[in-house]
Amino acid sequence: MDTDDARGRLARAGLRSAVGGRASVRRFLPDPVPREHVTAMVELAVRAANAGNAQMWRFVAVEDVVIQVAMRQAVDDALDEMAAWPELAGKGNEIKALRAYATFFVDAPLVMAVFGLPYFSRGDEMLLARGLGVEERDRLRARPDLQSIGAAVQLFCIAAHALGYGTCWMTAPVLAAPAIERLLGVEPPAKLVAVVPVGRPAGIVTPTSRLPAGDVLEFR
Ligand SMILES: Cc1cc2nc3c(=O)[nH]c(=O)nc-3n(C[C@H](O)[C@H](O)[C@H](O)COP(=O)(O)O)c2cc1C
Repeated sequence: MDTDDARGRLARAGLRSAVGGRASVRRFLPDPVPREHVTAMVELAVRAANAGNAQMWRFVAVEDVVIQVAMRQAVDDALDEMAAWPELAGKGNEIKALRAYATFFVDAPLVMAVFGLPYFSRGDEMLLARGLGVEERDRLRARPDLQSIGAAVQLFCIAAHALGYGTCWMTAPVLAAPAIERLLGVEPPAKLVAVVPVGRPAGIVTPTSRLPAGDVLEFR
């Protein structure tokens, strides 16, 4: 089987459109997202490979506009605070751009907040026992918790796309993590990892380009 045959098999399996047709959506129609659809998206998301099958993800689907607006306000407040940092003097335009990148989730009919629970593998415990610092541990463990949750978020976005919804995987709102956790009544040790607005796209969704495989793939 050459590369074209392999591409054909992926296309016939529906993967090239399911995965390749997805793109980040940042403008949404107001049509609500039924709970049944949200449940189906999460059912697919949790098929993600995850370290130790610990399933260290939790999902909170925010339908209530009042809570969505409060989340947006929390992000605005966090950015206002950052804008006042002397280290960021003269960075007004960058803060403005970040604000747009971090707050448009409020225009979606549904906002999925994704949380992570602590995960310690046996390997982590051994490194902890040795007294390694966080940076060194992360270097040797590469955050299996965040990798697992990321895999689930990707599948969630693909499932939403297959049902005709647009999504945007967002981490910029995590700048307001403590406030958003309080608003959603999520208790420690769960931590906000991502926010994903979901809704029917307002406009045509055009996948963005990618580097060719030859630029990112090497064989040894
Ligand atoms: C971990 C992660 C965090 C992201 N955070 C944001 C964000 O906060 N705001 C935003 O508008 N897009 C965000 N994105 C979307 C990326 O900008 C987008 O995936 C990338 O430009 C590729 O475009 P595509 O998703 O349309 O293929 C994020 C994507 C990932 C994977």
